[in-house]
Amino acid sequence: MPSFNTEELLQESKKVAERAYAPYSEFRVGAVAVDEDGNSYAGVNVENAAYGSGQCAEASAIGAAVSAGASRIKAIAISSPNAAPCWPCGNCRQILREFDVATVIVEAGDGSAIETPLGDLLPNSFGPEDLAGAGS
Ligand code: THU
Repeated sequence: MPSFNTEELLQESKKVAERAYAPYSEFRVGAVAVDEDGNSYAGVNVENAAYGSGQCAEASAIGAAVSAGASRIKAIAISSPNAAPCWPCGNCRQILREFDVATVIVEAGDGSAIETPLGDLLPNSFGPEDLAGAGS
């Protein structure tokens, strides 16, 4: 049994996007990560007057999951009222890769869910296991 409902997760991410702090770009993003027990962790983009100090929604959601002690993050849904689909940026793909998040869910233009394996979005990626030979 999957630990999450794709449609519900997408709806949650749409809702949380309303709380984005995006006064500079006015591009709001919401993300909801779900762990193997079905617990969900929401995040939004949090911009900053020093533009480079802003944080993406996916990073906020993963931060919330890790902070709560989530064991294994299975999937993440990402939404924006300003773009459909709202694909994760390159940096966020790498953040998801660190935690082996298997599935990325975004909203298609017609409102339906698009489920994509992270491996399709970040092929031939670099991850924690690649560091295994270092420091010995
Ligand atoms: N943004 C995200 O939150 N996630 C992404 O994957 C792409 C971009 C945010 C960053 C910035 O606050 C705004 O969208 C415009 O780039």
